[in-house]
Amino acid sequence: MKRIAVLVSGGGTNLQALIDAKAAGKIPAGEFAAVVSSSPDAYALQRAEKAGIPTYVINRRDYGSNQELTVALTALLREQKIDLIVLAGFMYILTRELVDAYPNAIINVHPALIPSFCGEGCYGLHVHEKALAYGVKVSGATVHFVSEECDGGPIILQKAVNVEEGDTPEVLQRRIMEQAEWIILPKAVDLFCRDKLTVEGRRVHILS
Ligand code: GAR
Repeated sequence: MKRIAVLVSGGGTNLQALIDAKAAGKIPAGEFAAVVSSSPDAYALQRAEKAGIPTYVINRRDYGSNQELTVALTALLREQKIDLIVLAGFMYILTRELVDAYPNAIINVHPALIPSFCGEGCYGLHVHEKALAYGVKVSGATVHFVSEECDGGPIILQKAVNVEEGDTPEVLQRRIMEQAEWIILPKAVDLFCRDKLTVEGRRVHILS
């Protein structure tokens, strides 16, 4: 059984999708061993507690820099013998210490089709504001391994979602969550836990 840690900062709907997938038997080779929040007020913590998953808070305010936060986080994850880290709406950029400790074992969900609408400063609702401002007719979500480059690691899964007439950033965000993020994130976690993902350069191969 792979021990999974989910890192959150807010509402935690992607965490909920993972909890529900596990309860439905869709992640047979993984167990949720920790939920780590960057804020003590994140609603995601309540979701974790309800599901009986141990919770931790690593508050950015307690650390002088993202690097200090990352070092503390890496120590916690090592101590908990975590095999896979899932960034599910985690809003801080983690530094190389974590990527070095967990090469190709950190997965992020991003609410756009990378390489569109990604990179530093492109997170949460901003992503959908940018997609609407650009006028794209299709957006979606991407699940990828985390590398040192923000949103730049090898892509595991993507799913396209149509932009509709009259969409607001909030409406588009919700549609992308429902039709893409909540589906491809649990799927990628399951594939990882069953050792079905191999990385070759930038490309991720999915074994049958
Ligand atoms: C999700 O849409 C996720 O893709 C996005 O934040 C939201 C978190 O929602 N992440 C990023 O923008 C990362 N760059 P949630 O807390 O309800 O899962």
